[in-house]
Amino acid sequence: MKRTKIKELLHLQPAGQTIKVQGWVRTFRNNQFIAVNDGSTILNLQAVTALDSLDENTLKRITTGACLSIVGELIPSPAKGQAVELKVTSLEILGDSDAEKFPLQPKKHSLEFLREIAHLRARTNTISAVMRTRHAMAFAVHKFFNDRGFFYINTPIVTGSDAEGAGDMFRVTTLDINNPPRDEHGHINHKEDFFGRETNLTVSGQLEGETYALALSDIYTFGPTFRAENSNTTRHLAEFWMIEPEMAFYDIHDNMQLATDLLQYLVKYALDNCADDLEFLNKRALEEEASKPQEQRSELGLLDRLKFVVENEFQKLSYTEAIEILKNSNPNKKKKFQYLIDQWGVDLQSEHERYLVEKHFKKPVILYNYPKGIKAFYMRQNEDDKTVAAMDVLFPGIGEIIGGSQREERYENLLQRVREMNLPEKELWWYLDLRKFGSAPHSGFGLGFERLIQFVTGMTNIRDVIPFPRFPGNAEF
Ligand code: 4AD
Ligand code: MG
Repeated sequence: MKRTKIKELLHLQPAGQTIKVQGWVRTFRNNQFIAVNDGSTILNLQAVTALDSLDENTLKRITTGACLSIVGELIPSPAKGQAVELKVTSLEILGDSDAEKFPLQPKKHSLEFLREIAHLRARTNTISAVMRTRHAMAFAVHKFFNDRGFFYINTPIVTGSDAEGAGDMFRVTTLDINNPPRDEHGHINHKEDFFGRETNLTVSGQLEGETYALALSDIYTFGPTFRAENSNTTRHLAEFWMIEPEMAFYDIHDNMQLATDLLQYLVKYALDNCADDLEFLNKRALEEEASKPQEQRSELGLLDRLKFVVENEFQKLSYTEAIEILKNSNPNKKKKFQYLIDQWGVDLQSEHERYLVEKHFKKPVILYNYPKGIKAFYMRQNEDDKTVAAMDVLFPGIGEIIGGSQREERYENLLQRVREMNLPEKELWWYLDLRKFGSAPHSGFGLGFERLIQFVTGMTNIRDVIPFPRFPGNAEF
């Protein structure tokens, strides 16, 4: 007999039809009521056994965490809170779970504790709701771009250069680290390494992405990226996923519009397609908020925050305007910021970004035209000779969710920046080549996938929105 997923059977008219369900026991009450979850939905199915229909031994084995295969009749549920239930006709235990030892009890566990049992935490309501939503967002990313004629390009994970300079890199090598081959100066000889050169895990697919934008016009990447920075925050991972569209013939304003369209599309997709999970996560976030001090609570609940982003324009603001606002802000005058804003040209910290978004404008902000000194070499220089056509999208509760720019398409200007910033000109030969052969104005950005999932699910810590988080000191599982 074929198995029916719980998500599907909840839509059926209950008419006593025979159905097979397979899943894991969440709770078992009164030797009669089994709440079964198979992960297809946040909702459990109640399976009801006739009293005394099961032998003593089977009853004992129906424990939280055990895996069951149940056949029964689907009937309207007399109980509140569910439309249907399954009247059990036969029950088989596929996998026992020792109730004494199973770490997940039918009670609230802290997210910190759940991180230590990441192999089992997917069986909780919270993590399963987050991961189903994560899936929906990944699907929606591909749908958004496909519908607009973008091509999905897979850029390499092992790369030869650290041209981007986005962060410290993880080395990739097959040399014997205890006894590496050395050259006549005593330096490690990477010519003998697997690739015949030094290699690293990529921090971004952008530079390779640009090569395809200058051939296929509109492309995007969606893959894992790696940064070996020692950032122990709720918004940083050492391994995270990034979506990087790159478009020929787009200027910085087209770029900002695409970023806005993408974010609004994704959030709306979640509202339209993840209702059950978001409703649960909304309640969860409310409870978490209640335990925070008043001034740290957000004014809107999760669902209202999501609707707000879909329905409201993002505030566009130049870096120079932002500095003026921040200089004259209360926390700056009262020296409440950890980093005080005293002059044009300083990099903005997350406290400043959050002030602009959460206190001043109370909506998402797109900051653009940053000082060239604090941005990457490939960003297009503006006529003022001071700023580059960079943009960051800042979101409430998250801070920077997107970073991007118009790219420098003029060979001489790009070469000059490469030299000024002491970058390895030789390694960048192919990137510079793009500006020699049919160069075109083009732009792109990177959306941090986990930061998006944090925003959509209302989870406070980025470690809870990726199945197996990688961060300093942690690579278990
Ligand atoms: O601002 P970033 O470093 O930009 C780039 O890598 C560009 N090459 C993107 C491009 O123009 N194609 O990173 C982009 C986004 C950030 O806005 C943030 O959302 C996310 O990636 N991000 C991280 N997410 C989790 N953990 C980290 N350590 C992250 N670093 C960046
Ligand atoms: Mg950035």
